Amino acid sequence: MCGIVGAVAQRNITPILLEGLKRLEYRGYDSCGVALHVDGQLQRSRSTSRVADLEKQVDETGLKGFTGIAHTRWATHGAPASHNAHPHFSPSSDNARIALVHNGIIENHDELRAELTALGYVFQSQTDTEVIAHLVEHMYNGDLFDTVQQAVKRLHGAYAIAVFSREEPHRVVAARQGSPLIVGIGEGENFVASDAMALAGTSNQIIYLEEGDVVDLQLGKVWIVDVNGKSVEREVKTVHAHTGAAELGPYRHYMQKEIFEQPRVIGDTLEGITGIMPELFGDGAYKVFKEIDRVLILACGTSYYAGSTAKYWIESIAKVPVNVEIASEYRYRDSVPDPRTLVVTISQSGETADTLAALKHARSLGMEHTLTICNVATSAMVRECKLAYITRAGVEVGVASTKAFTTQLAALFLLTLTLAQVNGRLTDEEEAAHLKAMRHLPSAITSVLALEPQIIAWAEEFARKENALFLGRGLHYPIALEGALKLKEISYIHAEAYPAGELKHGPLALVTEEMPVVTIAPNDTLIEKLKSNMQEVRARGGQLFVFADVDSRITSGDGVHVIRMPEHYGQLSPILHVVSLQLLAYHSALARGTDVDKPRNLAKSVTVE
Ligand code: M6R
Repeated sequence: MCGIVGAVAQRNITPILLEGLKRLEYRGYDSCGVALHVDGQLQRSRSTSRVADLEKQVDETGLKGFTGIAHTRWATHGAPASHNAHPHFSPSSDNARIALVHNGIIENHDELRAELTALGYVFQSQTDTEVIAHLVEHMYNGDLFDTVQQAVKRLHGAYAIAVFSREEPHRVVAARQGSPLIVGIGEGENFVASDAMALAGTSNQIIYLEEGDVVDLQLGKVWIVDVNGKSVEREVKTVHAHTGAAELGPYRHYMQKEIFEQPRVIGDTLEGITGIMPELFGDGAYKVFKEIDRVLILACGTSYYAGSTAKYWIESIAKVPVNVEIASEYRYRDSVPDPRTLVVTISQSGETADTLAALKHARSLGMEHTLTICNVATSAMVRECKLAYITRAGVEVGVASTKAFTTQLAALFLLTLTLAQVNGRLTDEEEAAHLKAMRHLPSAITSVLALEPQIIAWAEEFARKENALFLGRGLHYPIALEGALKLKEISYIHAEAYPAGELKHGPLALVTEEMPVVTIAPNDTLIEKLKSNMQEVRARGGQLFVFADVDSRITSGDGVHVIRMPEHYGQLSPILHVVSLQLLAYHSALARGTDVDKPRNLAKSVTVE
């Protein structure tokens, strides 16, 4: 999703801006651009291709400067076209005075556009961003910092902006409300960016701007005012952001690499855990866990399915009631808050706008006990929650989440055991048995990865289909949902998941000989029920593709294709079964020739509503 980099320095900053954009590429984008102050003029270059293409254009034109801003855009208002790419200029003529980049969505852009059009501003794009550029130009009073403070008062919605003026060559002003923005401090130079990773190698002295902050960046000065216009000091943190420069090695795609990294990253996430202790989730966790009667999980997409799996674990092992809510729904619905709730957000990126907003909403309802399961230690989510468990999946580049999901599950299982222990529901023997199973997870996953050749054979058949159904029961229903999401996300095959018992209540009407039905068949207490559901599919000619645990006594036959999972893994079985579904999605997409790591229309980090 959109990314911002900006700089004021006494050296040519073009390479810093372009390098920053490259580091933000992982978020997903469809166009990009850079603008610089060049000899008293504003000049820019924009591309609807990759940052590498923008770099070529910039080399060809020799665009260089000491002050500038750059952007990767993920289209919301207006198609992914060069005239919609940022930076936007105002006036939109050769003699532009203001250049601006923006992340987020301005909700009152129609109203402002009408007002500015009546004042004579000519719009070149369909974006909500160009409205802000013209607004700042219209209000410009010779002091950009003051102007931006006034201008943002007119904006409704979410924004992170960076702006500079032709008339103030050594100044960039930035502001945030609802979208993340950080400042990087240098020696006689300063920077702004969407996240610390964009500045890796340039500055590790980072200020995380707070909601409503406006910042004035000059060569030797960083001045921040808060939402009330009062000067504020914000803590400068030394941040060692990972560079994201993960090498592909022998793999064809990051997604494939990330699937195969799972044994190692689960081991890393659980490293050093020799016993269950509330402090694994942060200081004061014991007190918090003692004070809560229920759990509310907030998340989106794959992280939501991790939360949905955790509900089964927490309710059955710790006996604590759990609600799992899609963050974008929760934030807008009337719910019944209970202050004795542990609010758990789950997020790979820690920057997902809907999840952050849902967290704030929960807090505004008086629920102050907050915990995040997150993969990015420097993210907004970790800063906003009292407690945190940082998964150690490492940088996940593929848009389709894989290793982040399984490490989230590992962390959520630890949370389950911890809540059980605090509630006196975990004996020493049970604790030891669960920990032993967790330690064995990496080698169990390695055995599942060894099934790849069989899964490839299935994927070749799936690649010719346009629809698929996924079935699971109990703990594996969220895994069926995740399997369907993976398949549709990267192969563009329409896929739906159902609890197998629900089939006869409607979706069975879809089943014909053309319909592949992926079935997750762990050897658990529901296996006989599941077999009946499979019969319902076969009776209608549906083709069953079953991932069956050993001892489940399901064998291949007419219309029934079976891949045998290496072992039955009890409560942790979802972590093994999802790996086989990730491989099925990956190889189906590969066979269809889609852009596996950057599927159409999607972004890695969803920082807008
Ligand atoms: O960074 P988050 O975990 O908060 O992201 C949530 C979803 O956007 C994400 O899981 C998305 O569904 C993935 N592309 C799924 O593969």
